[in-house]
Amino acid sequence: MNQSAESSEPGFWDVRYASGKTPWDFRGIPAALKGFLSNSKPTTALIPGCGTGYEVAAFHAAGWEVTAIDFSPVAVEQAKAHLGPSGKLVVQGDFFAHDLGEHKFDVIYERTFLCALPPTIWTNYANRMAHLLRPGGRLVGFFLFGDEPEPPPYPLTETQAKELFSGHFVLRRDDAVVDSLPLFAGKERWQEWERNAGKDL
Ligand SMILES: C[S@@+](CC[C@H](N)C(=O)[O-])C[C@H]1O[C@@H](n2cnc3c(N)ncnc32)[C@H](O)[C@@H]1O
Repeated sequence: MNQSAESSEPGFWDVRYASGKTPWDFRGIPAALKGFLSNSKPTTALIPGCGTGYEVAAFHAAGWEVTAIDFSPVAVEQAKAHLGPSGKLVVQGDFFAHDLGEHKFDVIYERTFLCALPPTIWTNYANRMAHLLRPGGRLVGFFLFGDEPEPPPYPLTETQAKELFSGHFVLRRDDAVVDSLPLFAGKERWQEWERNAGKDL
């Protein structure tokens, strides 16, 4: 197994999944996502950096056509092991480079993926999200705000979030989160960013 000190490399995550040191892993479905799934018409969804991917089963069970992607072979193996038949919806690949087809998604679900990435590649994240979503589609999920002395995770500031997303997205929803894991308590928000009708990227 390749090890890496950089969270932008699969080896960084492989060692953590292999040793079970995964304090970000919710091992279930957060309440805000349950609410979103019960109030939305199922269409197409992408889950980038899905890790062990419990949410894949939730989207699938709610009738969504869902694809999930993670570049850590160990995470993908663990996801496939517990997802059973829905494990085929999980692809091993780099979110920034993998060919996800010409299809534009209606929804992309975020949880602890952006805050796992070094801020130097956050603009790539925002551009890739904008490219993969149809106009009117939404980037929804949990975003981390505040301070972190020893990142990752890399939280956002309000200013960074505006700078990062305002070119391609409009914030449609911003709620406090009631069931955060200890690692994220008081710092997570459920947000829904709608892709504007700006130019394709
Ligand atoms: C903190 S974990 C979060 C996993 C999952 N979203 C969750 O909530 O449990 C971050 C995940 O992002 C994945 N990841 C990081 N960079 C990636 C990239 N460029 N492409 C695909 N996956 C990536 C890692 O392998 C890891 O599984």
